[in-house]
Amino acid sequence: MYAIILTIHSLVRWLVLVSIIYAIYRACKGWKTNRTFSRADNLIRHTTATIAHIQLLLGICLYCISPLVQYFLHSYKEAKHNRGIRFFGMEHSTMMLLAVVVITIGSAYAKRRATDKLKFKTMAIWYSIALLIILLMIPWPFSPLASRPYMR
Ligand code: HEM
Repeated sequence: MYAIILTIHSLVRWLVLVSIIYAIYRACKGWKTNRTFSRADNLIRHTTATIAHIQLLLGICLYCISPLVQYFLHSYKEAKHNRGIRFFGMEHSTMMLLAVVVITIGSAYAKRRATDKLKFKTMAIWYSIALLIILLMIPWPFSPLASRPYMR
């Protein structure tokens, strides 16, 4: 079960990235060109938030069953000195949770803004902040914090 969820969590990262980058691109274009906030824009806003929520649920499941996190929680005093273990037990989980909260607030706020320009602007800003956090907290093979493969 652990291996399956870890593989899905690793793959869904690409869906999270593609959807959020595309949403930011559409939001910036719409903001700069004063376009109407169409049904397609609204669908992209909503789909991006949904994919992020799915990844959050997978992450929470992983957090509960990962042997690495269990070791972190049960042997906190020693484990906190191990950078790789602390990354998943604390930094990755907390910061990714924050990124999903930022996406959720940005999505809900954009939906309620009075004008189309403000909807695009809100989406562009909040989703960009979330993207920055996500990019920093993904354990890329080249990351100094923790490194994992691009694909499982
Ligand atoms: C946008 C959100 C997130 C992205 C893009 C993301 C991405 C990733 C990636 C790429 C890995 C490495 C997978 C591998 O080893 O192949 C990973 C591992 C992990 N993630 Fe996330 N993650 C996100 C959110 C979360 C959240 C919110 C939590 C917990 C609440 C979480 C918990 C974990 C844990 C515990 C592991 C490591 C499990 C292990 O190796 O035993 N993730 N994540």
